[in-house]
Amino acid sequence: MAQRTIVGIDVGTTKVCTIVAQVHDSGRVNVLGVGLTPSKGLDKGVVVNIDDAVNAIATSVEKAERLSGYRIGTAFVGVSGRHISSLNSRGVVAVSRADHEISRNDVARAVENAQTIAMPNQREIIHVIPRAYVVDGHEGIRDPIGMSGFRLEVETHIVTGEVMAIQNLIKSVQRAGVEIDDLVLQTLASGEAVLTPDDKDRGVVLVDIGGGTTDIAVFVEGGIWHTSVVPVGGNHFTNDIVVVLKTPHNTAEYLKLKYGAAIADEAVDPATDLIEAEGFAPGERQQISRSLLNQVLQARAEEVIEQIYNEIRRSGY
Ligand SMILES: Nc1ncnc2c1ncn2[C@@H]1O[C@H](COP(=O)(O)OP(=O)(O)OP(=O)(O)O)[C@@H](O)[C@H]1O
Ligand SMILES: [Mg+2]
Repeated sequence: MAQRTIVGIDVGTTKVCTIVAQVHDSGRVNVLGVGLTPSKGLDKGVVVNIDDAVNAIATSVEKAERLSGYRIGTAFVGVSGRHISSLNSRGVVAVSRADHEISRNDVARAVENAQTIAMPNQREIIHVIPRAYVVDGHEGIRDPIGMSGFRLEVETHIVTGEVMAIQNLIKSVQRAGVEIDDLVLQTLASGEAVLTPDDKDRGVVLVDIGGGTTDIAVFVEGGIWHTSVVPVGGNHFTNDIVVVLKTPHNTAEYLKLKYGAAIADEAVDPATDLIEAEGFAPGERQQISRSLLNQVLQARAEEVIEQIYNEIRRSGY
C-alpha cells in the first residue's frame, strides 16, 4: 500500500516536539520517531529570541531523526500565540456552467470571494476553512459539487495572525535546517487528533492548556466556528507558587507536578500537610504547606477556567 512520510513540529513555550510519521493511503498513521526537547526563546507561544528558538528546534529535529532513521527536510509547523484571531466570512458566486451543475471551480471561486475581508496590513491569513455551503438558500450543505443551483454561498472560518510573529517562527524553523510544508493552527491539529466527527457534529469546545497559552476552538454543526488563543497556561501556576510560597522556579515546578491539585479542599491531612522542598541556597531545605500550595493553584485554575468560559461566550455560543 502507498505511504508517505510526514513530519510535524510543535514549537511550544515549554517544549519543542518533532514527530516523524508514515501515513498510509488508508489514513493509518505510524509514528517512526519523536524528538522532545525543552524549549527556549519563546514567550506565550511566540518566538522572542530567534537564536535560542533555532537551537531548541534543531535539537528536537536531530532527536527525531536519530530515533526514526529519517532525514528531515520539510515539516508541517504548528502556530499559536495571542496574535491569532479568527472570524467567520461568507462568499457568494453565481454558478458558472450553462447546465447549472456546481463544479469544483465554483467552490474555489466562492471560497476566494469569502477571503475579500478588510484586514490590517500587518496581519496575514493562515487558514480559510469552508464550514458549510448554501445552494439557492438551502443551508447546511457539506459538499455541493455535482448539485444543481443558481447561487452558491460558502460559510468559511478564517484564521489570521501577525505577519512578524509568523515570519519569526518560519525563520527559526528554516535556520534549524527545515523547510516548511505548511503552517497549521495548533488547535486545529489538536482537534484532528482528539475529536471524532460525531463530537464536532454535536458541538464541542476543545481546550489545550499549554505552558504559556491556552488554545480554544469551538466546533458547531461539524465545522469550526471560533478559534482563539488566551495568553495563560501552566507557567502562570508555577510563577504563582514562586511568588506566594517564595521558592525557586525549579522547586515550584516540582511541587506543582508532584503535589499540586487544582481543587484545594481535597482534604490534606494536617499530619502530612508540610512537605520539604529545596530552598534558594544550595542544600537549603524549606517547609511548604500542601494546603497553601493547592489554594494558590486553585485560585489560578479558577481564573483560567473563567477566561476560557468568557472566550466561549464571546464566540456567540
Ligand atoms: N501533571 C501535570 N499537572 C499540572 N500541570 C502539568 C502537568 N504536566 C505538565 N504540566 C504543565 O503543562 C505545561 C506544559 O504544557 P505543554 O507541553 O502542553 O506546553 P507547550 O506546548 O510547551 O506550551 P504552549 O502550547 O503554551 O506554547 C507546563 O507548564 C507544565 O508544568
Ligand atoms: Mg502547546
